[in-house]
Amino acid sequence: MTATKGLEGIVATTSSISSIIDGALTYRGIDIDELAEHATFEEVAYLLWYGKLPTQSELDELVGQLGNYAPIPDQVIQQIKLYPKDTNSMAALRTAISSLALYDEDANEMSPESNLQKAIKLQAQLPTVVAAFARIREGLGPIAPKQGVTVAYNFLYMLTGQEPDEVAVKALDQALVLHADHELNASTFAARVTVATLSDIYSGVTSAIGALKGPLHGGANEAVMVMLEEIGSIDKVDSYIQHKLDNKDKIMGFGHRVYKNGDPRAKHLQKMSKELGKLTGNLELYEMSIRIESLVTGQKGLKPNVDFYSASVYTALKIPRDLFTPIFAISRLSGWTAHILEQYENNRIIRPRAEYTGPVGQHYIPINQR
Ligand code: ACO
Repeated sequence: MTATKGLEGIVATTSSISSIIDGALTYRGIDIDELAEHATFEEVAYLLWYGKLPTQSELDELVGQLGNYAPIPDQVIQQIKLYPKDTNSMAALRTAISSLALYDEDANEMSPESNLQKAIKLQAQLPTVVAAFARIREGLGPIAPKQGVTVAYNFLYMLTGQEPDEVAVKALDQALVLHADHELNASTFAARVTVATLSDIYSGVTSAIGALKGPLHGGANEAVMVMLEEIGSIDKVDSYIQHKLDNKDKIMGFGHRVYKNGDPRAKHLQKMSKELGKLTGNLELYEMSIRIESLVTGQKGLKPNVDFYSASVYTALKIPRDLFTPIFAISRLSGWTAHILEQYENNRIIRPRAEYTGPVGQHYIPINQR
């Protein structure tokens, strides 16, 4: 038995949800470029859950369900009020999503219909949790979700209490489409491992949030913004990045386990970053990002991943830095739950082996002789 570090190249399951073939990403066989251009996040979520694009009436029904499910139990709001004000936003999200299960009487019901309803319910409630947390820590009251609007609209509305402008809603919606699913990424794998024990969907999503939090995965979008803030201005990019490259430090937002010739999602976010920069009259973060890309790709051959330009996009949308990864979770929840439903459909417990590298032939030594 020989281990493969990081399971690189190991095919751990079959899946019909998303594919990465020859550097191209598809959701249910549709190229991400087409979806980024034309689809809304709700259409994509439907596509991931049901395996086909919705008709207008199916889409309207889903938007209605998302609106109906969006309010969260008052007990969870009361708990969020007790969280330390400076708590990590992904830790808060992990805790709040886990506690939603306590107030769902169907949490442990395992029928496919019940699990699909809980997927939709979680999709509706996760943005409400993130927005409530963001406001409560500022000493503000949570804002009740609106009915009949999109996830992107509702999230921005619940965050600010104001009707969001069309450009911001469109940009966030497109970012949600781009992040919705990504084959067997670390957080999706974590979700599948958890539910393959026949544990419930809330446990699967809670595991996934824990995995997404790390800076080698979803946490990288916030880490990119930390880097941009540390650099501060375009004239300091070269010295900062050169120092990191010389020290062999990781540059956040670059590299990928699967894409070696570039992440197909990054170009859409780069374009969005430029457009939003122009609209807000501040292109500095975009220009800094372009310069970083030219240095890192030029010297190391590493290309930006989905997280790199997300940082300047979300900043242009006036979203606080530590909500970048929770926004990733809002989107990826659609993929996590699609994978959880697929895992339940054709389940076998996921239990790989380890290559043992410890000592052999050891004996128990009584405590007074150690
Ligand atoms: N900056 C500097 N060097 C890097 C980077 C980076 N961002 N990424 C990879 N490298 C280096 C590695 O250290 C390794 O160097 P070595 O051969 O001298 O040891 C070499 O490039 C090859 O690395 P890989 O084997 O391709 O990396 P791996 O598949 O193990 O990790 C990962 C992929 C985690 C994404 C890595 O590229 C990384 O840490 N990137 C920065 C964090 C990041 O942006 N994560 C988000 C990924 S996308 C997502 O999850 C949403």
